[in-house]
Amino acid sequence: MSTNWAVLKQYARIFTVVVPKLLWQITFGIFITPKETYHQLERILELKDLFQQDKHLKSKSINDICSGDANVRDVVIIGNYHTDRSSDTRQLKELSSIAFLCRAMSFNKIFEIGTFVGRMTRIIAINSGKNAIVYTLDLPQKLVPHIIGEFYHDTDESERITQLYGDSTLFDYSPWYNEIDFCWVDACHDFEFAYSDTIVAFKMVKDGGWIGWHDYRHSAPWAGVTKAVRMFNSIIGGGIIHINGTTTAVLQVTADMKNKVGSV
Ligand SMILES: C[S@@+](CC[C@H](N)C(=O)[O-])C[C@H]1O[C@@H](n2cnc3c(N)ncnc32)[C@H](O)[C@@H]1O
Repeated sequence: MSTNWAVLKQYARIFTVVVPKLLWQITFGIFITPKETYHQLERILELKDLFQQDKHLKSKSINDICSGDANVRDVVIIGNYHTDRSSDTRQLKELSSIAFLCRAMSFNKIFEIGTFVGRMTRIIAINSGKNAIVYTLDLPQKLVPHIIGEFYHDTDESERITQLYGDSTLFDYSPWYNEIDFCWVDACHDFEFAYSDTIVAFKMVKDGGWIGWHDYRHSAPWAGVTKAVRMFNSIIGGGIIHINGTTTAVLQVTADMKNKVGSV
């Protein structure tokens, strides 16, 4: 009885704090503190992205998606994630889900489209097979303000990482066709780019290999990656899964899919 009362009190407390705040924001806040209001409202969408079941793809936990090596329990996350930086992948659940996939499947050859500062590159290299090789592609250094791959430079993993430069939509991926165990798609998030990167990822990944997409936001169907992932999912006849608690989607590529799609 007392537990129910405590839950009820907590519910009322949250309700009386959150509802007036929201009402204020969608009426006056938009005009008085537009930036703050925008971020607060964006966070609501973000929560839907993370925790609500996706109506188009299935939403599952990474353990239920990937059986892999049943002995794998731990993942390794290294990096200065405690510092305030924007734009890079830093959501712990996202990092650890992909780290788990790499560990459980013990990937040998990985291709990342979109390096940025190389945090995910390093996480992938650390958690994949012991001798795994990671290829990572970004625009030519002179075209971007950040230092490409700076977070894997001078680390133990850097020897296993090959930095490639070029526009992801023009790059010649043919040497990697049907060679790759895991492709992480995370470059330009506009639809045309995300779709083009998806197609090349599918060409590079071999039968049984995996593709992962970052910034799949199922509460924002207008977002480029979301649209590209959904469109591609219907072309291959389904199979892409949203990882619960993340803005990440993954697919295990099968020979059937490859035959079905042919030369996309
Ligand atoms: C979201 S960041 C990648 C984040 C990184 N994968 C991670 O998980 O930390 C996107 C990167 O893609 C690069 N990029 C954008 N457009 C590109 C293109 N057309 N070709 C290659 N790289 C591109 C940007 O320079 C940027 O470094």
